[in-house]
Amino acid sequence: MKQRKIYRSVAVTLMTVGVLGLAGTNLVQAADITKLLEGCADCHEKDGNSTNADTPSIAGMSTEYFAESMEGYQTDARPAKKLKDKDDTMKDVVKNLSEGDIEALAEHYAKQKFKPYKQDFDAAKAKSGKKLHRKYCDKCHSEGGSSSEDDSGILAGQPMGYLRYSMDNYTSGKREMGEKMEKKVKSMLKKDGDASIDLLLHYYASQQ
Ligand code: HEC
Ligand code: HEC
Repeated sequence: MKQRKIYRSVAVTLMTVGVLGLAGTNLVQAADITKLLEGCADCHEKDGNSTNADTPSIAGMSTEYFAESMEGYQTDARPAKKLKDKDDTMKDVVKNLSEGDIEALAEHYAKQKFKPYKQDFDAAKAKSGKKLHRKYCDKCHSEGGSSSEDDSGILAGQPMGYLRYSMDNYTSGKREMGEKMEKKVKSMLKKDGDASIDLLLHYYASQQ
């Protein structure tokens, strides 16, 4: 009994130190995060919801997926694309970010509401895509790819140009995909053909 009490008080102390520690770092970062966010808004808009087909919406992403994405650019595990009217790519962007910056940015964007991108889609393709999604993808991209809780990004309502680019990167090996996802994607391409990716993209675009 006595021992349990000691454990509890140690736990409370540790928690207090943890909370104070976190509050401290947030205070230090609060000054420059506004400036960083202005830079991101140049391509991702202020609320993180994209207004062009080639840029992903980053609002509502889980902090884990967000941080992993940034690390992917830092370590060259994923490529970065240059937009027509911009000079920098994500690789230039991440060069100037510390781990603390990424954490603060991740927390900021996780709190923003994801708004599906308004775009054209083919209803018949979307219907077939929905079936493919259920069969091969929904296990890790749940609720039709709209949930951020799987830490695997948000697919539903992302601009189609960006998702097509992501899938091209995966299938050509320019971006690493997890072993399990790779297995599903390969088996889909084998059984349902190369056109299956286009069907999926119309399904994700149809969720508005
Ligand atoms: C010059 C334009 C530009 C700026 C500035 C920019 N981004 Fe990006 N970002 C992109 C583009 C384009 C992509 C997607 C294509 C790619 O991978 O290169 C992307 C991808 C991302 C992704 C991955 C999304 C996913 O679904 O995997 C995250 C996260 C991200 N950006 C966060 C940020 C943050 C945070 C900032 C500010 C610190 C920022 N970006 C600044 C253009 C930009
Ligand atoms: C075993 C789990 C799993 C399965 C099955 C799976 N994925 Fe993923 N997917 C992930 C994870 C984890 C990530 C994020 C990390 C990464 O890049 O690997 C991801 C990332 C993605 C991304 C990148 C999102 C972005 O914002 O750039 C796309 C696109 C994607 N998956 C499409 C699919 C499609 C389409 C299927 C079905 C054919 C599928 N995935 C099946 C786990 C899975």
